[in-house]
Amino acid sequence: MSQNTAIRFYDLHPPQTDHIGETIEGLSKKQKQLPPKLFYDEKGSKIFDQICEQPEYYPTRTEIEILRQNAREIAEYCSDNNLLLELGSGASKKIRILLETLRPNSYVGVDISKEFLIESTTRLAKDYPWLDVHATCADFSHDLDLTHCPDNQRILAFFPGSSIGNFTPTEAQLFLGRLHKLIGPGGLLLIGVDLVKDIDILNAAYNDSHGVTARFNLNLLERLNFELDANFDLERFQHYAFFNPHHSRIEMHLVSRDEQTVHLGPHRFDFRKGESIHTENSYKYTIDGFEEMARNTGWRPVKFWTDDAQKFSIQLFSTE
Ligand code: TRP
Repeated sequence: MSQNTAIRFYDLHPPQTDHIGETIEGLSKKQKQLPPKLFYDEKGSKIFDQICEQPEYYPTRTEIEILRQNAREIAEYCSDNNLLLELGSGASKKIRILLETLRPNSYVGVDISKEFLIESTTRLAKDYPWLDVHATCADFSHDLDLTHCPDNQRILAFFPGSSIGNFTPTEAQLFLGRLHKLIGPGGLLLIGVDLVKDIDILNAAYNDSHGVTARFNLNLLERLNFELDANFDLERFQHYAFFNPHHSRIEMHLVSRDEQTVHLGPHRFDFRKGESIHTENSYKYTIDGFEEMARNTGWRPVKFWTDDAQKFSIQLFSTE
């Protein structure tokens, strides 16, 4: 393989013991919960790609539309930044729009799903032989280390998909603050942020009629069965997602259909009928609300773009 079609891969993924600890801790809480990053094993990442294609799931389509329509202008703002860092890189079409318009020197994809990351970055390296491609398998919700990446280049961080909404506002602030420090002088952040809107549109997006989101949610239990020696019966849990206006967030749960006991290795967990495991949140922001939060962590708002119906936003911030 010639050098410019190969990727440079760094594995910073936490050992599986972390997953066991966090899982037990979550299931032991009064409101049971599971760490959302467990969604994204190879199978989960594939199901997530299918969610993105569902007609009700507007965020992906809308974000791509905003990127396509404004790629030239975005590129003008980012022309000094030659290292494109993508957080949660997945199988995204989005990055291709940016790569083709911005033509950076280097690309660093960071994702928690190793096989998926290698597959997608290898494809990028083949399709863009002029690009220096790096892949880092890491849990960027904890710590992110860029020491492996090419230095002396201004960084443009791209954080699409409104994944920022999967953090609580407190976590999001911590994350934005850490990212600000990491990216340093001359750095930019281009971030996809889903907006507050009509409740019916929101609820439909997380309850698609083909049941793909339900499968994605339930896959979490299958993963626990497979990897952590649990015995969840998938038939006895139900996907439940709704918009909670007090917190401005979609909440995702798995609800026990009846009273039952589940074992995970030597541990045992009892469920009442109707008791839920809280698996994910997806916070929705206003443009102003998000800018305010970013400002509080040191970022300076530069510009934002939305679709005509103001469903979704792509916002650009600068470290100084
Ligand atoms: N970042 C996506 C969002 O909040 C993640 C997501 C979409 C998701 N659908 C989901 C996470 C279903 C868990 C379950 O919109």
